[in-house]
Amino acid sequence: MKLFLTGSFITIIILIVLFSYRQSIFSTTSLPYDDEQQGLNEQITIHFSHVVAENTPKGAAAEKFKELVEEKSNGKVVVQIYPNGMLYNDESELEALLENKVQMIAPTSSKMTNALPNWQVLDLPFIIENNEQLKKLLNGETSKSLLEELERINVKGLTFWNNGFKQIASTSPIVEVEQFKGKRVRVMGSDILHEQFNLLDAKPIAIPFGEVYTDLKDNMIDAQENTISNIFSKQFHTMENHITLSKHGVLAYAVMMNGDFWNSLDAESQKIITDSLDEMQDWQFEQAEQFNNENLTYLKAIPNVKIYELNDLTKKDWKEKLKPIYNHYEKKINNHYLEELLNEKSYP
Ligand code: SIN
Repeated sequence: MKLFLTGSFITIIILIVLFSYRQSIFSTTSLPYDDEQQGLNEQITIHFSHVVAENTPKGAAAEKFKELVEEKSNGKVVVQIYPNGMLYNDESELEALLENKVQMIAPTSSKMTNALPNWQVLDLPFIIENNEQLKKLLNGETSKSLLEELERINVKGLTFWNNGFKQIASTSPIVEVEQFKGKRVRVMGSDILHEQFNLLDAKPIAIPFGEVYTDLKDNMIDAQENTISNIFSKQFHTMENHITLSKHGVLAYAVMMNGDFWNSLDAESQKIITDSLDEMQDWQFEQAEQFNNENLTYLKAIPNVKIYELNDLTKKDWKEKLKPIYNHYEKKINNHYLEELLNEKSYP
């Protein structure tokens, strides 16, 4: 018995010593020097906030940007993405960027128009007719000048990404222009977009993207303009099951960084960022087209979802009704940008 107790006692002591050694409980030495750990101090983190789902043109572009930047910088520049408005919604993301709470955002051009009214040129209805024109415009000189305007608010404009054309999604058919009458239409916060739906005799209501689903559920709105990928990824079609392929407007994203943060980056990191964006630009435009086409195919297969096209005559009616908006922009906002854009899109 005495032997058994002594044996057990010794075994327990050995186990305690072994455990303590593994947990470094008795260790007085500091952690060994670690190159990689030191590197952590030099790591640059870009917090990138956006409001849409990951499986959308902007969501996928954010992921691609992260992949390229981290690869090119060997992990020195890290991109943390916060999708779905989980950090900031479209009313608060610009402020968060200006306060450097996040370093990168990519709002729609429409959401920048309160700060920079000239940007409303991109909201003008029927100004762009097809994907080729849209790509040319968003990569062209007008867009470059618009991005440069961001310097006024201490923001670095990097590039434009694309989502494609806006269509009309509604709880009842809107094909003939008269069918807009009295409809409560959700819009992004842009005066020109308000003006557009006023001209159509509808009732525009500015609502953040993240609240649209709930407002539809609560019967606060009847319709909205958005791309197919946004309609599909947020399941708006489950309530707005009448979709008119009007292609009346474009949805572009201005990719931007906090100005002080950008200026604090070393030249090599800045180059990695701009090179990554350049490298992915064509890919981004292709992705946007693909998402919208694929999502439209899904929607067409849902029996409850009705898809309408605008015939030439109906489109003419819409354009006629919306014509005064061009005068409004030209006279009250900026004649120069409109002229520049129209010239640019007509170059071969
Ligand atoms: C987005 O694509 O970022 C949101 C667009 C919207 O607010 O409708």
